[in-house]
Amino acid sequence: MADILVLYYSRHGAVRELARAIARGIDSVPGAQARLRTVPAVSTVCEATAPAVPEDGAPYVEASDLQECIGLALGSPTRFGNMAAPMKYFLDSTSGEWMKGSLIGKPACVFTSSSSQHGGQESTLLSMMLPLLHHGMLLCGVPYSEADLSTTQTGGTPYGVTHVAGQENKPTLSEEERRLAMAQGKRLALLALQLVKP
Ligand SMILES: Cc1cc2nc3c(=O)[nH]c(=O)nc-3n(C[C@H](O)[C@H](O)[C@H](O)COP(=O)(O)O)c2cc1C
Repeated sequence: MADILVLYYSRHGAVRELARAIARGIDSVPGAQARLRTVPAVSTVCEATAPAVPEDGAPYVEASDLQECIGLALGSPTRFGNMAAPMKYFLDSTSGEWMKGSLIGKPACVFTSSSSQHGGQESTLLSMMLPLLHHGMLLCGVPYSEADLSTTQTGGTPYGVTHVAGQENKPTLSEEERRLAMAQGKRLALLALQLVKP
């Protein structure tokens, strides 16, 4: 089995729901399995440290996860039209992997959740693509052959799957969002198996 890393940060659970749907899409591909990982929150109190093991959700990511996985799905909430600081903080710690070339030639996709429909999802997705391009990754989005992309009234973009959580921050995905997330996971896994020999 070859592992595809699904790495996300989520404070209220919406991005975690997308991550789980993407993971189900990955797991539907024979020979591929999702490895769910998260990053700790960052604190304005610099001395504060997170517990070694998260209280719930996926384990914290380690450098070995980046090395061992043959593809990557990267997710973050939209924060002022950009990725959240904990994900950026983690990415800023990956220069060792950049120097080793651990991610070169591996496929990647990105995903996000925001409270409002036009609140910067696409700029957030683009912001997450930039460091992945520096790492030499090959980005894949969602093709319009996925019919839900043309009809969704909630989340879903060709740059990567999304969720619109609304002002009440509801993490539950719409049917279109769930299907698109699974399709993105499946597409990433199929690409990874073609591109990278595990
Ligand atoms: C500091 C901060 C900035 C935010 N900026 C935006 C934004 O620019 N546009 C938007 O629509 N939602 C924004 N939100 C709302 C989150 O993107 C939204 O609640 C998201 O679904 C949270 O994902 P999570 O449940 O995985 O934590 C912001 C939230 C916070 C805390």
